Amino acid sequence: MRWTLACAAALATFIPTFALPADYTADSGEVNIYSYRQPYLIEPLLKAFTEETGIKTNVIFASKGLIERIQAEGRNSPADVLLTTDIGNLSQAATSGIAQPITDEAIIAAVPAAYRAKDGAWVGLTRRGRVIYASKDRVEQDTITYEELADPKWRGKICIRSGQHPYNVALIAALIAAHGEDWTEEWLRGVKANLARKPAGNDRLQVKGVYAGECDLAIGNTYYMGKMLTDEKHPEQKDWANAVNVLFPNTDDRGTHVNLSGAVLAKNAPNKENAIKLVEFLASDKGQEMYADVNHEYPVKDGVRWSELVESWGTFKSDPISLNDIAALRKTASELVDKVGFDEGPSS
Ligand SMILES: [Fe+2]
Repeated sequence: MRWTLACAAALATFIPTFALPADYTADSGEVNIYSYRQPYLIEPLLKAFTEETGIKTNVIFASKGLIERIQAEGRNSPADVLLTTDIGNLSQAATSGIAQPITDEAIIAAVPAAYRAKDGAWVGLTRRGRVIYASKDRVEQDTITYEELADPKWRGKICIRSGQHPYNVALIAALIAAHGEDWTEEWLRGVKANLARKPAGNDRLQVKGVYAGECDLAIGNTYYMGKMLTDEKHPEQKDWANAVNVLFPNTDDRGTHVNLSGAVLAKNAPNKENAIKLVEFLASDKGQEMYADVNHEYPVKDGVRWSELVESWGTFKSDPISLNDIAALRKTASELVDKVGFDEGPSS
């Protein structure tokens, strides 16, 4: 009853995802998922989960507002699990009081400590590297560091989306962790001076900028390479992707900055046991392979194979810093972006 009332207004967006399998029993129950991650990614995983456990899944997909919605629903929230990308969203969920600690041993054993909250408020489920897409025609070097993006040799040659985008905020936080705040401020000024144009658009459009000759380097997440190469609706993106090499920064020192997608167990989860079973599944070898494959991401669990396409970009060393530390430096990173006027572009 509580579920029906709470969701009456949301029926239009509330999608019971799959028909139940023949061996489904009412005892298996259900689990309610609020997802910032898109249906094409989540639906195959939930289908496999239901086949394995008999637990029915109900999903609300949205691109924003889910954390606020769980807050507003309060004790009556039907939400069991929140699925989202980015350490920004994961830590916002933790600080907004909608999470309860995940203490399940199987999940803790599967997810390395660097990729889950110290207090269990979130767990990472996939990793993505923030890499440099370098022009095949105009960039000869095959190694690079984030630090050298501020070198004047790249003047007018770098494309990047807004410095305030959470992907860049996390990257800048990683640089603060490595070098301190003052150094990072100077680095940001240097990168800003090297921009080819005002930061705008998404990661793919930065790669398009390289393809079009506007810049030689673009900063973007790894999975966009896979998305551009396999996006049949936008075949022109294959040309963008084929114009660049993926360079994993800092392979000779601390490694490439990684961000996460992950899960939060809702504080008032009405189906807590099933929610934990779902996260256990997503952190299992099978869940990890599927999760990473569909969106060209990297598993968080050690020893899980990578997809062939992802593997074709080469091995990379990920910065071992805990995402807890990145979360703690996000605010400072965002303030630095404003302080240097990064998003005003190279000419200001
Ligand atoms: Fe993305």
